[in-house]
Amino acid sequence: MKVVSLLNRKGGVGKSTIACQLARGIQLDGRDVLIVDTDAQGTASDWAESGDKDTPLVVKIDRATLEDDIPKAGQQYDVVIIDGAAKAERMNVSAVKASDLVLIPIQPSAVDIWPVKETVEIIKTRQEVTGRPQGAFVISRAITGTNLASSIGDVLDGLELSLLDARTHQRVAYAEAMGKGVGVMDLNGRDKATSEIEAMTNEVLDILEQTPAVA
Ligand SMILES: Nc1ncnc2c1ncn2[C@@H]1O[C@H](COP(=O)(O)OP(=O)(O)OP(=O)(O)O)[C@@H](O)[C@H]1O
Ligand SMILES: [Mg+2]
Repeated sequence: MKVVSLLNRKGGVGKSTIACQLARGIQLDGRDVLIVDTDAQGTASDWAESGDKDTPLVVKIDRATLEDDIPKAGQQYDVVIIDGAAKAERMNVSAVKASDLVLIPIQPSAVDIWPVKETVEIIKTRQEVTGRPQGAFVISRAITGTNLASSIGDVLDGLELSLLDARTHQRVAYAEAMGKGVGVMDLNGRDKATSEIEAMTNEVLDILEQTPAVA
């Protein structure tokens, strides 16, 4: 079992969208996936309830004890995806402890350095103790045709975390899929969004394959 968290203390950056869409992508790749919804807003839970597809099960965990709870709740799954909450420091620390990989979605048009730095610090502190988790930024809601390098370069410089090649762009397909409780790949004619999530699925699975199993 491998655990991936979507964390950023800033709200509205795409944590839940990427958590649910990536979970569906990994499921369609043939793995058993569980989503852990740590946010009282319940976006991931609402997503699962809206859909009639065979999407991943979503369980709510509202205690900051994910490192104890997920090995039990997720034991029969291949991959567990944690949807983090904004402004939830204790829960984020707990999610980092539970994770093999932490993805930090950043929205290039509105990058906020402090919430990002805080999550990076939590990851680095944990890495010093246990060598895990891996951490990476993922660009979320990019606007087609804009120059990413200029807007996010300052943030990524010096933070020593990698950046996924895969990203999402701002597309109606994501909001539609979230509203319908499905993946973008379950919708007709949403090829660009589908390609983005398939690329993210492949990249994340590659990273997870390289992370050693916890003893
Ligand atoms: N790639 C995208 N294209 C278009 N809309 C998007 C995209 N990603 C997210 N959104 C929309 O942006 C809003 C915020 O996204 P989301 O709920 O995933 O963020 P979040 O980080 O989980 O927010 P919160 O901190 O409130 O939990 C939602 O309305 C969602 O539908
Ligand atoms: Mg959310």
